[in-house]
Amino acid sequence: MSHLRLGVNVDHVATLRQARRAAFPDPVLAAALAELAGADQITVHLREDRRHIQDRDLQLLRQTVRTRLNLEMAATSEMVQVAFTAKPDSATLVPERRQELTTEGGLDAVNGKETIKKIVRSLHEGEIEVSLFVDPDLEQIRAAHRVDATQVELHTGRYCDAHTPAERDSELRRLVDAAKAAQRLGLKVAAGHGLSYENVQPVVSIEEIRELNIGHAIVARAVFVGLERAVRDMIELMRR
Ligand code: PXP
Repeated sequence: MSHLRLGVNVDHVATLRQARRAAFPDPVLAAALAELAGADQITVHLREDRRHIQDRDLQLLRQTVRTRLNLEMAATSEMVQVAFTAKPDSATLVPERRQELTTEGGLDAVNGKETIKKIVRSLHEGEIEVSLFVDPDLEQIRAAHRVDATQVELHTGRYCDAHTPAERDSELRRLVDAAKAAQRLGLKVAAGHGLSYENVQPVVSIEEIRELNIGHAIVARAVFVGLERAVRDMIELMRR
């Protein structure tokens, strides 16, 4: 079975910094430590309201990240300009609403297909791979294929939030079906949102998934055990 890549999302290191409008902790330093611990990718979400990651962080990360830099961004022309300047290896298009605490649902690639297609094309012209963050829904997967995305990142939020074993199994089944459908269409498959040390392993066993993006659980554990150990603990659970 192929190597499952870990993208470490360092947004919440910046959340802590911004809580005091201070100069630390520094997400750029966090990214370097995550890489030393074995992360395959660094992921950041530059939000329109700049609540955690700042433009300067992105510039510095582009200069220092040695693995791959994945920029999560809203599907807007303003963010395309940011991506052109920052030149991440990949961009993950996510829906963005100002009031939300975190990204709540997947992108609607079905209804937003005209806009998304244009944005995907622009990003490809800038030699940036494009992933669409979508719910594990076959219509969304087909739409992602139609707008020429390279990859889909399956939203694991509903699986992670399931209250009963039956609900969890059914959400896991949706992820399996979506991953298989995406791969059949030639899309690469990633997954993320809400994954933790407790719930990651069933997702690891979905063969079609080649990358996980994990933030909150790793940064939260890092507060107690250090970032390097937190990243290594997750990598340990991701061996297949
Ligand atoms: N993937 C995407 C597309 C996201 O928007 C987020 C949250 O920023 C994550 C992964 C990471 O989610 P979490 O912080 O819950 O691990």
